[in-house]
Amino acid sequence: MTGGARGEGAREEVARTEGVRAEGVRAEGAWDPGRTPLLSVRDLTRYFPVKGKGLLPGRRAQVKAVDGVSFDLHAGETLGLVGESGCGKSTTGRAILRLLEPTSGEIHFKGKDVRAMGERELRTLRRQAQIVFQDPFSSLNPRLTVGDMLTEVLKVHGLHGDARGRRKRARELLDLVGLLPEHADRYPHEFSGGQRQRLGIARALSVEPEFIVCDEPVSALDVSVQAQVVNLLKDLQAELGLTYLFIAHDLAVVEHVSDRVAVMYLGRIVEIGPAAVLYREPRHPYTRALLSAVPRPDPGRRGETGRIVLEGDVPSPVDPPPGCPFHPRCWHPDRDASCARVVPALRPTPDGTGREVACTKVATSGGAHP
Ligand SMILES: Nc1ncnc2c1ncn2[C@@H]1O[C@H](COP(=O)(O)OP(=O)(O)OP(=O)(O)O)[C@@H](O)[C@H]1O
Ligand code: SF4
Ligand SMILES: [Mg+2]
Repeated sequence: MTGGARGEGAREEVARTEGVRAEGVRAEGAWDPGRTPLLSVRDLTRYFPVKGKGLLPGRRAQVKAVDGVSFDLHAGETLGLVGESGCGKSTTGRAILRLLEPTSGEIHFKGKDVRAMGERELRTLRRQAQIVFQDPFSSLNPRLTVGDMLTEVLKVHGLHGDARGRRKRARELLDLVGLLPEHADRYPHEFSGGQRQRLGIARALSVEPEFIVCDEPVSALDVSVQAQVVNLLKDLQAELGLTYLFIAHDLAVVEHVSDRVAVMYLGRIVEIGPAAVLYREPRHPYTRALLSAVPRPDPGRRGETGRIVLEGDVPSPVDPPPGCPFHPRCWHPDRDASCARVVPALRPTPDGTGREVACTKVATSGGAHP
């Protein structure tokens, strides 16, 4: 995965667990891109132990950062992941790649059980699946020229032959992300914010991945530069057939890049579906509130209720509310006492759009999430 300060702690964590799980990996040929998702996630959880006493005697408190996330992602698709700060988006992205060890759940990438991967399989995964961070500068080594940084990654992965071949490839990568060959001799501090993000993307692409977790890749950039980097990511996807998990809190950016969108609240997905459907007609009360705050060129698309202002803050993930996690802030007229008891599962809506909603008061087709 991408190196540098931001990835160090995570890599250490991975290193501690590498080699422990060598069994249970499915055969390479098991993945059929036409029928099987590139990535399949089921009931993923990641809890962080924190200081303080838990609710049960003798138990430490824990942050339930990701608390039962399930979704599929097909090759060539972009799934947007949105939700308020702290809802578990980054933790989900990192746990999928085992940059953070999941607490429980299943992850399959190209048909292989990611949680069962040993050192060798993880090394392959690190080539096939990459991550691009919000702040590329903190993950770029300030002491290496850009050319050396890229050739170093190629060398570690044994790609593109000798030193000459690697230098040639480094220049090609710079060209691929809209930078110039002479940029290879410069240091990260000599680049603008947008250019640094292009470098972050070039480094991710250097190992020829199929899947990239884009964790707020444009959130720190000026609006005009954001559009350039988003368009670059889209162009690269079309050219290289990449699959993205695109994490962002900017709903307009997510709508622009995503085929499907998942909305997270307090560590869970509360609604997931095709971007066009979800933005046109959000169903979960939380999604409706989120989208009602987004300025739209067409007022008719803002939904029938206009702006919905949520009261109160997001509850602490250390002590999430029982039942529906959204119930303390829910504005839905049908909210009742059962909302504080029943945890709603994600269920398909009967409109046949492929959308799923986790709310007992929204019409669904019943049945458990596959
Ligand atoms: N290492 C950690 N130790 C303890 N708690 C953590 C740790 N990392 C994340 N958390 C907590 O887990 C929750 C989810 O964090 P996460 O970074 O995944 O959210 P996010 O949706 O990416 O937020 P943002 O939009 O601000 O990036 C938060 O409450 C956060 O404080
Ligand atoms: S289950 Fe109840 S509290 Fe939760 S979103 Fe639906 S109406 Fe609101
Ligand atoms: Mg985050």
